[in-house]
Amino acid sequence: MAGTSTSERGAWNSKLGFILAAAGSAVGLGNIWKFPFEVEAGGGAAFVLVYLIFCFILCFPVLITEIAIGRKTQKNAVGAFDSLGFSSWNFIGKLGILSGIIILSFYNVVAGWAFGFFVEMVTGNFQIGSQFSEFTVDIIKIGGYAILFLTTTAIIVSRGISAGIEKAAKILMPTLIIMIVGLLIYAFTLPYSGVGLKYYLIPEFSELNLQTIGGALRQAFFSLSLGMGALITYGSYLSKKENIVSSAALITLFDVGIAFIAGLMLFPIVAYSTGGDMTDVQGGAGLIFTVLPGVFESLGGTLGAIVGGGFFLLLSFAALTSTVSLLEVPVSYIVDEHKKSRKAAVIISAAVIFILGIPSLVGNGYSAFFTQFITYVGADAPTDVMTFLGHLADTFLLLGGLLIVSFTAFVWKKESLYEELSYGYVGFQTSKVKTFLNFAITILCPALLAILFVLVVLSNFFGISIIN
Ligand code: TRP
Repeated sequence: MAGTSTSERGAWNSKLGFILAAAGSAVGLGNIWKFPFEVEAGGGAAFVLVYLIFCFILCFPVLITEIAIGRKTQKNAVGAFDSLGFSSWNFIGKLGILSGIIILSFYNVVAGWAFGFFVEMVTGNFQIGSQFSEFTVDIIKIGGYAILFLTTTAIIVSRGISAGIEKAAKILMPTLIIMIVGLLIYAFTLPYSGVGLKYYLIPEFSELNLQTIGGALRQAFFSLSLGMGALITYGSYLSKKENIVSSAALITLFDVGIAFIAGLMLFPIVAYSTGGDMTDVQGGAGLIFTVLPGVFESLGGTLGAIVGGGFFLLLSFAALTSTVSLLEVPVSYIVDEHKKSRKAAVIISAAVIFILGIPSLVGNGYSAFFTQFITYVGADAPTDVMTFLGHLADTFLLLGGLLIVSFTAFVWKKESLYEELSYGYVGFQTSKVKTFLNFAITILCPALLAILFVLVVLSNFFGISIIN
């Protein structure tokens, strides 16, 4: 039989392999590039607190649900719903594949920048930071890096689950941990590191409003790779022997931990770059790509090349295990449902994604049209296409998550979920986790996700925030 038996689809070799691959999917540009500055904008530790609550109360149940649907059906994000007997709900999976393609189309461009900056750092070109706007319009160069990054992703995915994705995660994730801890220790030795840490960690409850709360939820969903079937897909390669609940807890801890450490590492570096003046810190792309190279330069040629190269290599590795998971979603769908070989599926998906990524590639200054792509209702400046796609994807992920839990609680029926969770977790049916999950998937997640979804749509596209 073509392409349907478990052995042909592939499977994880070990629980650790699955956890590292799923944590690799979670840990990405979102953690190292975005999280620290979301924290800063959202009121420091107050935001971290809200973020943690969302991760463990709202996202953790969705994470478990996605993995369980995948393992139960051993199918891709669309086929899983068919296989449960609810084909009319497979639009959730289709929405997920669409979200994955959208995310990967722009994510890969930023990942290419990160790798490009690694090359610039090790060759001693620290000026690149002040020339960032020239870098992003050098289409040949950034196009080349985007192709390189997508090709690397495609090669890993084409090798399959255990020999490709799992093996890459087993090499990249431990390396990533070593690099981030090394950079963290180094950051602590810099002058003004205490100032940076205070700025990061002291809660400002006054900056907490519905908009930052919505931001925390968006960030949590994106960071945990939820709501688009990536975990249905990864779960479909998981053995019945494994405990889904404890795996999901480890993945969440891993993701939250790396995001938190990224902040501990970045803010001392920022404080060093400003001489301890934290009044005018800029976040996001600006900071990582424009400010950090200058900091690395001030460390001196060789040390700068090592620390700067290390940082951008870290960012590239984090991004790579995420692009792999994003590509695996459409690939696994094509392999299962259209009975194509994995290689053919990879080539088709990667080609489509590269073409769809062209607007993002040229949308940071090169093409005026894509740089000033859309002006939201009530906004006074246009938004570039990459930011717009990010907002669109965030919205789809929340909707996807809402639909997945609601489907599980009310259509597939939660008893079926609990039965699946019992494999690999002997006392599950009488555990407190079950009591919590029951409350979470029937009441808490559907209600809160629906409310927050509406708020995020309003604030993303219409500039309306209810409070503030
Ligand atoms: N979680 C990754 C990050 O934080 C991005 C990512 C990978 C993702 N796979 C995903 C986001 C699936 C949503 C869905 O950078």
